[in-house]
Amino acid sequence: MISQESIQEIQRRIDIIDIIGTFVKLKKRGANYLGNCPFHNEKTPSFTVSPSKEIYKCFGCGKSGNTIGFLMDHEKYSYVETLRWLAERYNIDLKETETSPEFKALQHTADSLFAINHFARDFFTNTLFNSDEGTDIALSYLRERGFREETIKKFQLGFNPSSKNEFANTAISHQFNKELLLKTGIVVNRDDKLTDNYRGRIIFPIHNLSGKILGFGARVIKSNDRAPKYINTPENEIYVKSKLLYGSYFARTAIDKANECLLVEGYTDVISLHQAGIENVVASGGTSLTTDQIRLIKKYTHNLTIVYDGDNAGIKAALRGLDLAVEEGLNVNLVLIPDKEDPDSFVNKIGAAAFTDFIKKQKKDFILFQLEIALKESEDDSTKKSAVVNQIAETISKINKTEDFTRRQDYIKKVSEILKVEESGFNALVNKLIREKINKQDARFFPPNNVSQAIPEPNQTENENTGAYHELIQKDELHEQAVVRNLIEFGLKEWDENLKVADYLLSQIDESDLSELLDNKTLVDIINIYRDWYRKGKEPTEKNFLYHENNEIKNLIIKIMDVQTEISPRWKDHYEGYIATREDLYKEEIISTLTYLQLRKVKRLIADNQAELEKASNPEEQLICIETHQHLKLLEIELTKRAGTVIYK
Ligand code: UTP
Ligand code: MN
Repeated sequence: MISQESIQEIQRRIDIIDIIGTFVKLKKRGANYLGNCPFHNEKTPSFTVSPSKEIYKCFGCGKSGNTIGFLMDHEKYSYVETLRWLAERYNIDLKETETSPEFKALQHTADSLFAINHFARDFFTNTLFNSDEGTDIALSYLRERGFREETIKKFQLGFNPSSKNEFANTAISHQFNKELLLKTGIVVNRDDKLTDNYRGRIIFPIHNLSGKILGFGARVIKSNDRAPKYINTPENEIYVKSKLLYGSYFARTAIDKANECLLVEGYTDVISLHQAGIENVVASGGTSLTTDQIRLIKKYTHNLTIVYDGDNAGIKAALRGLDLAVEEGLNVNLVLIPDKEDPDSFVNKIGAAAFTDFIKKQKKDFILFQLEIALKESEDDSTKKSAVVNQIAETISKINKTEDFTRRQDYIKKVSEILKVEESGFNALVNKLIREKINKQDARFFPPNNVSQAIPEPNQTENENTGAYHELIQKDELHEQAVVRNLIEFGLKEWDENLKVADYLLSQIDESDLSELLDNKTLVDIINIYRDWYRKGKEPTEKNFLYHENNEIKNLIIKIMDVQTEISPRWKDHYEGYIATREDLYKEEIISTLTYLQLRKVKRLIADNQAELEKASNPEEQLICIETHQHLKLLEIELTKRAGTVIYK
C-alpha cells in the first residue's frame, strides 16, 4: 500500500490545470478555466475547471470531480494507478507502507497465479500454431468457423494437446508450484499425478482490464455428450466469476467511444463481433449480471444493450440481472437474435453491416419489452392486467435517483400509453411506490399525511399531491446541501462584529438537532467533521474535504460545491452597473436555507402531532394536541413568510 505521507505529498503537488490541461484544451475565463468536455460531445464549452477549488465540473453532462477522479474517469486508471501516474509526473518517491502478512500472502499467491496463467497462455498459443495436432485439428477448426488469424492472435486463443499431461510436465519442469498449479484449474490430480484438465480443447484466455490473464475457458472441439462443452477456471484468488466480463479488456475503449456496451452470452460471440468491427462487446457467460459486473460497465457507459438469442434458456437468467441494472441507473436495451442463431453465427451469416443495422432497428427498451411480454401473457384477463400495471410501476419506481427524473417521467408517459391508463393516475401509483420505499428507509421522512379533519386549518391550506412530491424531495435535498455549501464556502466570513458565519450556522444547527434537520447522513457527517475541526482552531475549507478518505464525503462535497460563483462576462455586459452575486448576498442565502429546513422540521412536527391526535384516547389529550397544532401552524406561517428569498432549482 502507498503510504499516507506519499498520498498527501501527491495531493499537495497536484496542479489541476496542469493535469487536466494535458487531456483537454483549456482557456482561462475569469477565475476558472473552460474547455470542451471530454466526457460528452459538445461544441460550446461547458467543462469548467476551478483551480482554487481544485475541482472540475461539466455543466453539460454533469460530470464532476477532483484531479484524481478525473484521471480515474478519463484514463480509467484505478486509484492506485492514478497515484503512481501522478507520482511519476511530479517525481515523487512513493513510500509503501508495511502491509499485513495476510495481505502479502494474498498478493503473492495472486502474482504467482498470474505468472502461471501467462506461462500457460504462451504454451497454449504455441501449441495451436506450432504443433501438428494444433494446426491440423484446432486451428483448422477455428478457421472453419470463420476466425481469421489476426483475430485468433488478438484474443490469444490456444490449444491444449490431447495427450495426458504435456502441459503439467512442462510446468513442473519450469518449477511451478504444484499447489498453485492446481489452483489455476489447468491441471488436476488424477491418481496422485498432475493431469491436464483441458486436454484436446481450444483455450480462451480471460483478461482483466489491464490485460493480465485471470483464467481460461476451454472448449471441446468435437461435440461429445459426456464432456461439458466448456470447462472454466475454478474460483481462486484472481478468478472471481461475478466480477469479470469476458472481453472487457478488448472492449473498453470502444465502449467508451460508442457510449454503449453490448452484452452477449459467449466467448465466440464476443470474438466474432470484434472481427466484424463491432468492438464494444463483452460476455457474461450466460449467467445473470451481478452488481460488480454492472459497476464494471458503468465505469464506461450507462447504456447497456443485451444481444441474446431469443429462444435461449439463458435469457431468463440474463433478464433477472437486468432489474438490478435498471436499479443501478443503467439504460437497458434488448436485441433478440432470431431463429436459433446466436450473435456469432448471425453476424457470420448476414455480415457486419447488416448486423449493425439489425441491432439499431431491433433495439427495444428493456422495460417496455418486459411490459409487452407481460401484456401478451395477460391478454383480456383484467386481474392479470392489474398485476402487470403494478409490476411495471414497481420496476419504474426503481428509477428513483434524482438525476433520472426525466427518464422516469418519460417511461410513465410511454407506459400509460401502452397500457391505455390515465397518465396522472399511473404517475401517482409510481410515486406512491417510491414514497413507500423512502418511508420504509426512513420512517420519519414525510409521515403519510392522512390529516384528521378535526383540526381547523388556519387560513392557509396546503395539499401535497403526489405529483409535487418528487419536487419536494428534490428541493429538500438541495436545501440540505445548501447548508453544507454555505458552511464550507462562507464559514470563515464574518456574520456580525462578533461572530463568523461558522459560529452562527453551527449554533443554529446544534449537534443534538442535526439529524432531525437533515436527512442525508453524509451531510450530517460533514457538518460534524467541520464542527470538530473548527472547534480545534482549524479553518476548514472545501479542500480539506476534497481528498477525504471517505469516498461518500468526498463525492458529495464535489457534487455540491459551486464553481460558478462568478457572473459570466456576458451578463456583466448586458446589465451595466452592479449585479449582486451569491458572494454579496451570503447572509440572506444562509437565513433562507436555515428557514427552509426549520420549516420542514415544523411540518414534520405537525404531522407527528396529528398522528398523536388520532391516537389520543381522551378529550384532554386531544385538546393538548389541538393547541400544539395551532401553535405549530402559526410558526409554520411565520417561517413560510420568511423563507423563499432563495429557491434552489
Ligand atoms: P453457448 O453454449 O452458447 O456457447 O454458451 P458459445 O459461446 O455459443 O460457443 P460456440 O459458439 O458453440 O463455440 C454460452 C456461454 O456459456 C458458457 C460459456 O461462457 C459460453 O461461451 N458456458 C457454456 C459454460 O461456461 N459452460 C458450458 O458447458 C457451456
Ligand atoms: Mn455459438
